[in-house]
Amino acid sequence: MIEQNGAATVPDPALLDIAVDGAMEGRSSTYRVQLKRLEGVYSDAESYAAEVARLGADAEVYSVQSHDYGEGPGGLTIGTSRLEPGRVGAEFALTRGHLHARSDRAELYYCISGRGVMLMDSLDGRTEAIELTPGRAAHVPGGWVHRSVNVGNEAFVTIFCYNTDAGQDYEIIARAGGMRELVVDDGDGGWEAIPNPGHRGYESGRATR
Ligand SMILES: [Fe+2]
Repeated sequence: MIEQNGAATVPDPALLDIAVDGAMEGRSSTYRVQLKRLEGVYSDAESYAAEVARLGADAEVYSVQSHDYGEGPGGLTIGTSRLEPGRVGAEFALTRGHLHARSDRAELYYCISGRGVMLMDSLDGRTEAIELTPGRAAHVPGGWVHRSVNVGNEAFVTIFCYNTDAGQDYEIIARAGGMRELVVDDGDGGWEAIPNPGHRGYESGRATR
């Protein structure tokens, strides 16, 4: 609700025209994440360096287009996430991942193309990996660290929606030495989630406000 001259006004509804490749007409912002911004995110540093040498540091790994009305406890951020296919060593292409800065905030991810995994760690010790294909959605409750992983051969595209005031804590995963599991090639055309030997546990009492 916006106050103008003492009278409460509300924003206009927005039409968001969303294509299966993730393009969204009506978006208010776009951000792009290149390979160089994912240093230390993949578990295999040697393979990461090889991928940077092969593709270039500026190769795009994922992009996010979104629409919101600015801050406000009732506002939604609605958008698309497009994650390119690929692997770094055995590990499939991934997003940095985060816990919401207001950690009780939930999120919807609805797959519109490709094949991916929503990898999730709860702060109380559980881990989940949900495979998403077009028509399938993950409802990620509050209190779960989450990231997207592309386990297919084409772009993995989802529509997401969360409370705008959720915010993102991207550092919680780095501080923990990565998420609890790695999503890797199973050697048989599929994927499997295996324990991440570098994971040191999440700090408690952080990233909640
Ligand atoms: Fe999120």
